[in-house]
Amino acid sequence: MTKKETATLTYNGNTYDLNVLNATMGPDVLDIRKLYADANVFTYDPGFTATASTTSKITYIDGGNGVLLYRGYPIEQLAEKGDFLETSYLLINGELPTHQQRKEFEKTITNHTMLHEQIFSFYKGFRRDAHPMAIMCGVVGALSAFYHDSIDINDEKQRKLATIRLIAKMPSIAAAAYKYSVGQPFMYPQNELSFAGNFLRMCFGVPTEEYKSNPILTRAMDRIFILHADHEQNASTSTVRLAGSSGANPFACIAAGIASLWGPAHGGANEAALAMLEEIGTPDRIPEYIERAKDKNDPFRLMGFGHRVYKNFDPRATLMQKTAHEVLGELGIKDDPLMETARELEQVALNDPYFIEKKLYPNIDFYSGITLRALGFPTSMFTVLFAVARTVGWVAQWEEMMEDPKQKIGRPRQLYTGPVTRDYVSASNR
Ligand code: CMC
Repeated sequence: MTKKETATLTYNGNTYDLNVLNATMGPDVLDIRKLYADANVFTYDPGFTATASTTSKITYIDGGNGVLLYRGYPIEQLAEKGDFLETSYLLINGELPTHQQRKEFEKTITNHTMLHEQIFSFYKGFRRDAHPMAIMCGVVGALSAFYHDSIDINDEKQRKLATIRLIAKMPSIAAAAYKYSVGQPFMYPQNELSFAGNFLRMCFGVPTEEYKSNPILTRAMDRIFILHADHEQNASTSTVRLAGSSGANPFACIAAGIASLWGPAHGGANEAALAMLEEIGTPDRIPEYIERAKDKNDPFRLMGFGHRVYKNFDPRATLMQKTAHEVLGELGIKDDPLMETARELEQVALNDPYFIEKKLYPNIDFYSGITLRALGFPTSMFTVLFAVARTVGWVAQWEEMMEDPKQKIGRPRQLYTGPVTRDYVSASNR
């Protein structure tokens, strides 16, 4: 079948030709850029359910078939055969690294893992019980006050340096947020460890004894990072792009992304899913919660279920479930009641007509909470770990936007429904 080149829109008795832009995979796009100028009409799409806000070569999702590709590579292959640093290189540069490129990339990243020493005093301004995502927003935003030599967005070298710094420092920032919350000394990075191994040590090691890495748990952490690394134009990535479109510096843009990720409909869902499983407690209470999720008058939703794009299954959830089993197996957790409740809830929901009809399947957050909890993280850290991984996607997408000659400030329009023009009435006459 030959591809359509134009679509026709009839409005107010006039006909307008809209160019069709072809995708390499997935739906083509109607080009409406000139529509307002030609027809004096806007398009309406709250939540951007059918609007492409950009072109991108980074990540592809086929929600109907549960496909997720990073630069064309299936997530399953990257998660099984690759590692997070290689995945980061791929997302940023477009190709998998050669052996030499990989070595150089690893060296560059490890050279930037330390934080400016003064950043640690920044932490002390926070309350000990501050949510670590609040600390992340503040500290990452503050990086622009520490690294003045990487905030000129028009200098490609500075942009690259900011990208490296963000990927390298994010685990150190996240681990310090955790250490601060438990009152333990901050741990400095150990550069001979892997990205994930270093992160686990900075979280769970103490200066008084040698930290012993567990390869299975380190691998699980690494896989969790790979699975969360990018997800095309989701809310936080779009936030990063929108912030960046005004020319804001990269650290400020990533802080904006972290703020957006925090919400329970997005990255905060892993924390919310685990809280929900804990609240349900035992499988016998599942029917009550299923009924609540289906009740239109009850705002409760099954956290960890449903996705804007995946309408069949979330391939990340399948890999995450496997990782959860590996971690629980390694730690000898045989009868985890939460895992039992999760499995049962998944089965009940997957067979319930409401969830079938609305195509609501477990998403990645359903199983990531169980895994992270078993690894020793408190629920408040779950979204922080998501942010550590997603930073790679954010910087890759930000850099792609900065290199795009067609890039302009993001500025959505609106359908105004407020009062029409009226005259000011002085207070005594109101
Ligand atoms: N439990 C019960 N009903 C649900 C759920 C749920 N988890 N999710 C959607 N629905 C219903 C919703 O009430 C609506 O019903 P109706 O058409 O009768 O009004 C219908 O399904 C469509 O929902 P929607 O909110 O219009 O769908 P959306 O595409 O805007 O929302 C979502 C996607 C992920 C925000 C939503 O499914 C949700 O809130 N899920 C729970 C939170 C969650 O797990 N989020 C993590 C997403 S994956 C991680 C990430 O990539 O950020």
